[in-house]
Amino acid sequence: MMNSNDDHNPIQHFQQWFHEVDNAYPEEETNAMTLSTIGKDGFPKSRIVLLKRFTWEGFIFFTNYTSEKGRAIAKNNKVSITFNWKTSKREVFITGKAEKIAKNLSEGYFDSRPEGSKLSSWASDQSNVISSRRVLDENLHHYETKFRAQTIPKPEYWGGYIIKPYKIEFIEHEPITGFKRITSYTLTSNYNWLKNIRFC
Ligand SMILES: Cc1cc2nc3c(=O)[nH]c(=O)nc-3n(C[C@H](O)[C@H](O)[C@H](O)COP(=O)(O)O)c2cc1C
Repeated sequence: MMNSNDDHNPIQHFQQWFHEVDNAYPEEETNAMTLSTIGKDGFPKSRIVLLKRFTWEGFIFFTNYTSEKGRAIAKNNKVSITFNWKTSKREVFITGKAEKIAKNLSEGYFDSRPEGSKLSSWASDQSNVISSRRVLDENLHHYETKFRAQTIPKPEYWGGYIIKPYKIEFIEHEPITGFKRITSYTLTSNYNWLKNIRFC
């Protein structure tokens, strides 16, 4: 098990920063993070996704498993996520491996989403190019009708990933000098976190 009972645990560090930024700074979407994956062509691609949960094990977001990011992860599950919290001059860089979460956990989250988001998950298949906006509206209408009298189920191709961290870096920029304090944690072979602080 990860060492979770002292200040050498990055998840505790992350939790503290996340709550500080969320409560004490005018950050618009504290949970917005940049997810980078390596595509089939060998190049990285980055896009914004929303962090929905974090646990001692890692960082969870939800998506379409057949999207470009889903297909990239299926080939190479080494990913990075970055939080840029401009208003507090803080950044967090995380590298780790993405794994699908259990189906019942994805269903639990899907059920908590607004109806409109549930229907969009059915109507827009992120993996295929839809040639016109009209097709999206037609899809939406189709699924509205289909699920009118029932609870909207989670599509098979939709669910969560947990990113299990291997390395986490916390960076604080000093307002005037621009000097940086970097606190990094790296997972060792015996599941302890090696902590290091440096300035530059
Ligand atoms: C603020 C914001 C939040 C987003 N959150 C998510 C998200 O949680 N999950 C998701 O799949 N896409 C999310 N997106 C859309 C992605 O950035 C991206 O466009 C989409 O998932 C397709 O990416 P892909 O083709 O690289 O797989 C979000 C976009 C924005 C602007």
